[in-house]
Amino acid sequence: MKQVDRVVDAFRKRFGTEPEIVARAPGRVNLLGAHVDYSEGWVLPAAIDRAVWVAARRAPRPRTRVGALDFGEEAAFDAARPEPPVAERGGDAAWVDYPRGLAWALREQGVDVPAIEAAFGGDLPVGAGVSSSAAVEMAFLVAWEQLAGFRLSGIDRAQIGRTVENEYVGVQSGIMDQFASVHGREGNALLLDCRSLEHELIPTPDDLVFLVADTGVRRALASGTGFNDRKSECFRAADLLRPHLPELSTLRDLEPADLDRLQRVLKPPLDGRARHVVTECRRVRDGAEALRRGDLHALGDLMAQSHRSSRNDYEVSIEELDVLQEAAAGAEGCYGARLTGAGFGGCVTAIASESTADHVRRQTASAFEHRFGRRPKIHTCRVGAGAGIVGR
Ligand code: GLA
Repeated sequence: MKQVDRVVDAFRKRFGTEPEIVARAPGRVNLLGAHVDYSEGWVLPAAIDRAVWVAARRAPRPRTRVGALDFGEEAAFDAARPEPPVAERGGDAAWVDYPRGLAWALREQGVDVPAIEAAFGGDLPVGAGVSSSAAVEMAFLVAWEQLAGFRLSGIDRAQIGRTVENEYVGVQSGIMDQFASVHGREGNALLLDCRSLEHELIPTPDDLVFLVADTGVRRALASGTGFNDRKSECFRAADLLRPHLPELSTLRDLEPADLDRLQRVLKPPLDGRARHVVTECRRVRDGAEALRRGDLHALGDLMAQSHRSSRNDYEVSIEELDVLQEAAAGAEGCYGARLTGAGFGGCVTAIASESTADHVRRQTASAFEHRFGRRPKIHTCRVGAGAGIVGR
């Protein structure tokens, strides 16, 4: 059954009526630009053909009710007075904190958020590094806009989503995931400057396939991993460098020559963090240029370098990711591979062509199975369209 029919069906069963609208927002892969968005660097993501769908209508009662198909659960909240952010309540974030956080963030901006009834689900693996949470936020935002009759620009949509993550859920992420979900276009990757938010669509070959290989290892980002630590380390490194480079605002402003000259100012692990950001920003712009020329081999080499830098200098890889990356990148017909998303678990994204994808998938799966005794899930994805209302 198509995902859109699945959520509409679930909506009908739960609410006994037809939804007024269905919104869809995709996940993303990130070809290059690991952990540089919150330092205002450049990233090269692409929206994928896997997404979250929300079937919804304005609610006849004051409470918002949301059914989550993929969790088999329902939650209700008051969109006019949503509970305070997760950090103030204690405990971990739950799936409902994404739509509820959206109501909270919109109200903080003075937007009137009516109660809705909704059912949502999709085909994005959760917690795997393909931005299922950004997809939930963007799909609900598009749905709410349509039902309530307000309109936000793409940039405002992405910024509201980031506010949900940073201020409601408590993950200090950057703007890349929401931006890619909103601004992605079929047949294109997206070069985004995370400071100016200027972006350029770069065409991708028609037969480009993303193999998203899942370690099966999950870490909650708000607690228990180094995600927020990495962001503080970058800001600390920038603070230490600023007396020597008064123009520097974030690590994005650091030139390779300055880093060499000022190496002694930063002690481990801050020197590695800064080196990763500087070299990764360069790789993103070189990778964009390679993609413009249609040179996937050059792009793939940069992905392998990015993985090494994420592992050695930024320290966000784990052995499971390294095994998948090495196996995929070494398989005949694979252009390149790197960990995707936040790291610390989740997935590796490899790029290949339609004709070689099967072989790369098999090689990657058997190397992982050989080492860890279990078969990894490998999702085959292609470039997909950005968020919007879908017809039925
Ligand atoms: C997560 C965050 C993004 C970005 C990546 C790492 O996906 O949500 O903002 O920081 O990790 O590149």
